[in-house]
Amino acid sequence: MSRLLRILAIVAAALFALLASLQLANAQAPSADAGAGAALHEKDCVACHVRPVGGDGSAMYTRAERRVTSAAKLKAQVAACNTQLGISYFPEEEEHLAAYLNLQYYKFKD
Ligand code: HEC
Repeated sequence: MSRLLRILAIVAAALFALLASLQLANAQAPSADAGAGAALHEKDCVACHVRPVGGDGSAMYTRAERRVTSAAKLKAQVAACNTQLGISYFPEEEEHLAAYLNLQYYKFKD
């Protein structure tokens, strides 16, 4: 019986440690997930951007006359394109997309 209790205590301690580390990871990670944004971008955004700029569509973000010149404008443009798309993204999904585009192309600091 005491052996069973000891095993239970070990399992409980391990679970506690796991939960604590998960919570820590959560606290450290920014809420926007560029990986999730990359997947959404591939699925919903690329095809329409390829039409005007060709290639893989990334010239939309790197062209000289690009519209997006700040993090705020990036968020606004993601929301505007999202409206054209007719899919209602959750606000978090727009954050993921903006995080991905910023990481990959724009590199605004804030
Ligand atoms: C219906 C077609 C269409 C879809 C779908 C679309 N876009 Fe766009 N997007 C455009 C067009 C057209 C422009 C260029 C607008 C201009 O130059 O006036 C653009 C421009 C942009 C820009 C600005 C690029 C710059 O000039 O710096 C961003 C950012 C952007 N789109 C993000 C997205 C994201 C994120 C998605 C997917 C959620 C998306 N777009 C889906 C048509 C689309």
